[in-house]
Amino acid sequence: MELRIEEKTRLCVLTGAGVSAESGLQTFRGQGGLWEGIAVEQLASPQGFAQTPQLVWRFYSKRRRLAKEVHPNAGHHALVEWERRLGDRFLLVTQNVDGLHQRAGSKQIIPLHGHLMETRCSRCQQIFFDERTYEEEPLPRCKECEGLLRPNIVWFGEALDKRHLERIAEFMQSAGEHLVFLAAGTSGQVYPAAGLVDEVRRNRGKSWLIDLEPPAFYASRFDHVLQGKSGEILPTLFRGSH
Ligand code: OAD
Repeated sequence: MELRIEEKTRLCVLTGAGVSAESGLQTFRGQGGLWEGIAVEQLASPQGFAQTPQLVWRFYSKRRRLAKEVHPNAGHHALVEWERRLGDRFLLVTQNVDGLHQRAGSKQIIPLHGHLMETRCSRCQQIFFDERTYEEEPLPRCKECEGLLRPNIVWFGEALDKRHLERIAEFMQSAGEHLVFLAAGTSGQVYPAAGLVDEVRRNRGKSWLIDLEPPAFYASRFDHVLQGKSGEILPTLFRGSH
């Protein structure tokens, strides 16, 4: 099946953990997933951080270490190529915090759920690039205000950056029926990202899903579903279109 890109097409891609799976990073859900056997709220919520900050830092420190060890795969590279070809008719929205899209070279990217390699002060909100790991006491504190530092990740129960949502809405609305929405490697369980496909329908755009095991409840909302690995499908899907 061919995804046709016409002259007026605007392509919005939404990626999830599955896109990084072929680089060697675990997804969240399913067998062997990061969340398996874990109380998610303990590691990915403001309440969990308030109760057991050390545990939370140990979890994100490990993820920082693993993310630094891996490399972008063919799926990440295919999306960079598409950004190069389509220019401002392309927008990448990612739920991934691992930084692999950015390392591959994606620039028009919305990091919806934050960055693994950024730390933020929970008091003065200052954000800075940080690849360090914090596995031992004492917990890291802000140089400016002594507030407790935390990973710059959007946790459950926290709001997404409003500017990000506005930029996505603008992109979709201006595309109208010329919008092509392509989701890859996401199980469609976390909102608002999971609801973007419904916006596409409202705008009369076309929607595609690529997933190794497309979850039925999510897949049923797409026009086209391709089952397989994103690192294998993404490069072939885009070959040959404008
Ligand atoms: P999930 O772990 O929920 O879903 C990953 C999806 O990728 C599944 O549907 C898999 O079938 C699919 N998959 C696995 N390997 C694949 C491959 N090689 N090619 C294509 N698909 C593959 O991950 P997300 O949907 O990204 O949020 O999870 C959404 C959010 O939930 C995450 O951003 C994270 C998590 O809680 C935060 O941490 C804030």
